[in-house]
Amino acid sequence: MEIHLASMENITCWAFRKLCRGASDSYTGVLGLTNLIKRNNIWEEIDTYPIEGQRQWIQIATSKESECLKFLKKLEEEIKKYPEKNNVYGIQLNASCPSPNLIRIGQGPALIKRSVKVSHLIKELLNQNKYKVGIKLRLGLNETEVKQKKIFILFKELEKIAKENPNFTNVTIHFKHAQESSSSEYDYSLLNELASYNLPLIINGGIKNSEDIKKLIESISLENRKNIKGIMLGREALKNPNCFSEINQDLKGSQFVSRNFKNIKAEFNELCKQHMPKIVYLKTIKEKTNI
Ligand SMILES: Cc1cc2nc3c(=O)[nH]c(=O)nc-3n(C[C@H](O)[C@H](O)[C@H](O)COP(=O)(O)O)c2cc1C
Repeated sequence: MEIHLASMENITCWAFRKLCRGASDSYTGVLGLTNLIKRNNIWEEIDTYPIEGQRQWIQIATSKESECLKFLKKLEEEIKKYPEKNNVYGIQLNASCPSPNLIRIGQGPALIKRSVKVSHLIKELLNQNKYKVGIKLRLGLNETEVKQKKIFILFKELEKIAKENPNFTNVTIHFKHAQESSSSEYDYSLLNELASYNLPLIINGGIKNSEDIKKLIESISLENRKNIKGIMLGREALKNPNCFSEINQDLKGSQFVSRNFKNIKAEFNELCKQHMPKIVYLKTIKEKTNI
């Protein structure tokens, strides 16, 4: 079972990702391809310096195939220029961020109903053999789309890609539609049906510990459980960066040294000295965590 640290804008810099020991995978915050292609200063946020035992993903937002190509080219140039950043495992297409600015330009969850467009975007990203590709989805843009089961039409397209290309490695679902607030309850009633597709799923939303994971897995039929590749945690990591190690201990018996907040803070400060994130990251991390 993979345990992913979720993408969190202005939070998941290298120092924060490295702090989350025990996470199998981690993601940069969402980065718009239009900016990445045009502006060089954004590349600072692609801070994929080594993290032992953690696969690092870049999360991108786009709705244009041409941007995918340009991005892949620029990524290669960046890696050549900064070989110490050559630790990118994969690229995740964001089809989940509820920001009205993204939705207005047809990005993020506005893509869920556009299964053919998504399929084209993913194929463009797969047009290389170095990086894995994944997608992060919500259940729909709004309640109507959930009722219309738009996500299932998209799943059929994604199944075809997964069958053809093993570099398309996962589909993460944040189990809410894009108009639901962060405090609303999660609805996992579609989980078993979504897990019936031949797609490696990462389950995300409201997970805090191994008990939550066990309950979710038990709600899936034995036959469909094979498609569950992992789970993803976001806000719990803000409260407790030990949560990944704790889950590994509960599920796999792995030993770890628990850190108190004083240790965690000291470790974070040391990591920032190695690779200092932008000020906005430091401010957001201070605001949203006890670090
Ligand atoms: C402060 C914050 C920033 C976030 N930024 C992003 C982002 O850049 N990209 C993304 O896909 N999701 C983003 N999310 C959503 C999380 O990745 C995750 O899907 C969501 O918090 C649900 O998981 P959780 O209940 O474990 O927190 C953000 C969430 C928070 C709290």
